[in-house]
Amino acid sequence: MQQSDKLLEVKHLKKFFSVRRGIFGLRSAYQVRAVDDVSFDIRNGETLGLVGESGSGKTTLGRTILRAIDPTEGQVLFHMPDGGVVDVAQLDRRGLQTFRQHAQMIFQDPYSSLSPRMTVRDIIGEPLVVNHYGDRETVDRRIREVAELCGLQVEHLRRYPHAFSGGQRQRIGIARALAINPRFVVCDEPVSALDVSIQAQILNLLQRLQQDLGLTYLFIAHDLSVVEYISDRVAVMYLGKLVELAETTEVFRAPLHPYTEALMSAIPVANPHVIMQPVVLEGEIPDPSNPPTGCPFHPRCRYAQPVCEEQTPEWREYKPGHYAACHLAAELSLKGVQEVQR
Ligand SMILES: Nc1ncnc2c1ncn2[C@@H]1O[C@H](COP(=O)(O)OP(=O)(O)OP(=O)(O)O)[C@@H](O)[C@H]1O
Ligand code: SF4
Ligand SMILES: [Mg+2]
Repeated sequence: MQQSDKLLEVKHLKKFFSVRRGIFGLRSAYQVRAVDDVSFDIRNGETLGLVGESGSGKTTLGRTILRAIDPTEGQVLFHMPDGGVVDVAQLDRRGLQTFRQHAQMIFQDPYSSLSPRMTVRDIIGEPLVVNHYGDRETVDRRIREVAELCGLQVEHLRRYPHAFSGGQRQRIGIARALAINPRFVVCDEPVSALDVSIQAQILNLLQRLQQDLGLTYLFIAHDLSVVEYISDRVAVMYLGKLVELAETTEVFRAPLHPYTEALMSAIPVANPHVIMQPVVLEGEIPDPSNPPTGCPFHPRCRYAQPVCEEQTPEWREYKPGHYAACHLAAELSLKGVQEVQR
């Protein structure tokens, strides 16, 4: 990869939460390792899908990259349009304000992320006002422009969010995120709360906007078919760590990590001609305040060996562009999503 291809470089990023247990938090304090030494790049103009079970740290990773929350350790190097590189983790207030003009977030729940007391115009215009985008007329023009780009009509701007359906509300959320003309957007489960019939419309809108505006997405999702559809590459997260990262087809057809294989086997089969051999993913995701020793996946891994319990596997590039953290990645022959005609 050329240096200039990278928009973002995440290096050894950690986010631990301190939580107090017991009545009034008096008993004991413990740490949740929500993001635990994560390193990867995001390329200019790509969609990087991020998948993993609930509680694996996807939202925390997205929020830490955007400095919505402060990291515990590590670097987030962002390549600015002027060619400079900033470490988002170290930015002061002023630096952060500039960074936020380039990086925004779209949320899962368009119901709770939009203020019910603000009109659509004010919701979309808020980031423009905060960032001193221009005089009233310039701001108004931009609001109309971005609303139209997202499939909203001018008469919608006077209304309040409760007057809209879920899909329309997500269009408002997208318009708000794009108003300031960012280059990078973290999309945190942007279609998970929507009816299946509406999901495709919003995914198509996000894809069209990406092409037209040259956007780069970190796209977080539970639904692997959505991720397969929209992503150029896919990263798989387990218990605060990345366990696999590669081109989408590689991850889906030739996974290197047993956790990825197990996730793939859980994809619902819509096509009756496709036979899936289900791999059972047993047990719950462990407590991130007390992760297992060695490979964090070992208590649930059907291939686990004694070494897996003792040593943490290294994050390594096994094939060009295909990374994994598994002691047996080079030896196992895992199943991806395979279409077998009956
Ligand atoms: N503010 C917080 N304080 C303490 N623990 C937190 C906080 N935010 C998240 N966590 C914990 O960090 C871990 C990762 O949570 P996170 O929300 O990032 O997971 P996720 O992969 O986005 O899950 P989901 O798919 O359910 O959205 C979880 O164990 C969660 O309980
Ligand atoms: S390192 Fe061992 S336990 Fe972990 S995923 Fe690989 S085989 Fe399974
Ligand atoms: Mg989440």
